[in-house]
Amino acid sequence: MKLFGTSKVNEKGNLSIGGVDTTELVKEFKTPLYVMDQEFIETTIDKMKKAFKSSRFNTRIAYAGKAFLSTGMIKLVESKGLDLDVVSGGELYTAYKAGFPMNKVHLHGNNKLVNEIEMAVDFGIDTIVVDNEDEIDKIERICREKGKKQAVLVRIDPGIEAHTHHYIKTSGLTSKFGISLFQDNLFDIIKRLNDSEWIEFKGFHTHIGSQIFQSAFFIFALDEIFKYLDKLKKELGIVVHTVNMGGGFGVYYKEGDDPKPIEEVLSEIITYTEAMEIKYQIGFKELCIEPGRSIVGNAGTTLYEVGGIKETVGGKTYVFIDGGMSDNIRTALYQAEYEAGVVNKINDTDVKDVTLAGKLCESGDIIIEKGKLPKSTEVGDIVAVTTTGAYCYTMSSNYNRMMRPAVVFVKDGKAKVAVKRETLDDLIRNDEIFEL
Ligand code: LLP
Repeated sequence: MKLFGTSKVNEKGNLSIGGVDTTELVKEFKTPLYVMDQEFIETTIDKMKKAFKSSRFNTRIAYAGKAFLSTGMIKLVESKGLDLDVVSGGELYTAYKAGFPMNKVHLHGNNKLVNEIEMAVDFGIDTIVVDNEDEIDKIERICREKGKKQAVLVRIDPGIEAHTHHYIKTSGLTSKFGISLFQDNLFDIIKRLNDSEWIEFKGFHTHIGSQIFQSAFFIFALDEIFKYLDKLKKELGIVVHTVNMGGGFGVYYKEGDDPKPIEEVLSEIITYTEAMEIKYQIGFKELCIEPGRSIVGNAGTTLYEVGGIKETVGGKTYVFIDGGMSDNIRTALYQAEYEAGVVNKINDTDVKDVTLAGKLCESGDIIIEKGKLPKSTEVGDIVAVTTTGAYCYTMSSNYNRMMRPAVVFVKDGKAKVAVKRETLDDLIRNDEIFEL
């Protein structure tokens, strides 16, 4: 099992994260528990900021909140000077309540609701990333009513087929996101935005998918975009200032994964964009990215307690834990693969093949289909699953009336609650016993 950031085996032989012994974390906060390595998140952001800089144009990094979001996380993002990418009124409201500067917020979504656009315009957010033509009607109408002009980027689809799971691919000629670069009326759409009294057209956005290992796909996308920007300037005289390349930088989950260090990927993107800027001379001014997983993915570890071990007649060994697809649906949804260890036996190499299964009423409730745990694993042991910082808490559910686990941030030997554990009463809070 690969350990990240401040995770290590301490002098007692236990896994510790942020200087806190995970066996102590479990005593205090119970299981299942999401543990976030705060220092690791901070140093990752610092590395990204250092690499994603150019003397030729401005750069901005927006954290993609969909990976992991809470008011505390937003404060951390603010303290690091990043922008924030939100994708719903709920994420926008969370940012607003956390006091995040609204002029650093970017709103996404392929079907933004009228009330979400209204909220964004009222809050004075930086950018709305326009997905489709119907949305332009809505933004214009809302801005006219409010007498406020809104800056937008257009989400374009450069038709790059990145090698990732098809559910998390967001580009290609049949994608539900954005407007294809090959669509006949794209010029008309851009002209309309550029001429609009209520819209400030700033440029293009693209996001070609998530968990992408080959940086060449980002370069292909940049290439397509700059060719188009050149055409736009030559044929329509429209100068695009901003390009946002989205997120999608892949991270290590399991043996065999070999992502390039994020700083190398970002430097490649900067170098290539500088070359494009010099080649085309189109008045380009700003390059943005929106990483989510690469900021928080490896920083998260989920702790579970083993409640049972079952050997099936078919020869499969199940290790049952006290969570499951309600706190991590990624295995069921994308056949994601993870690594795990027992927190006081991390270096035990005498292992066996196991399936780490949850407690929910569903055969697909598996966290690790083909895993390895020590042969000595027993009921009561604490299992740590790594790389659960992205898209686990945010995709969690109350299926089977499971209570969502707490999230704690650990740093310098201290643990702080970022999200409280749900209670039984939380589960029935919105229920009504109606008249029969
Ligand atoms: N920007 C846009 C417009 C996006 O759609 C996404 C992710 C990101 C940025 C951040 O991508 P990241 O850097 O985190 O790869 N639930 C899936 C991932 C869905 C990603 C959706 N969009 C999973 O668990 O793998």
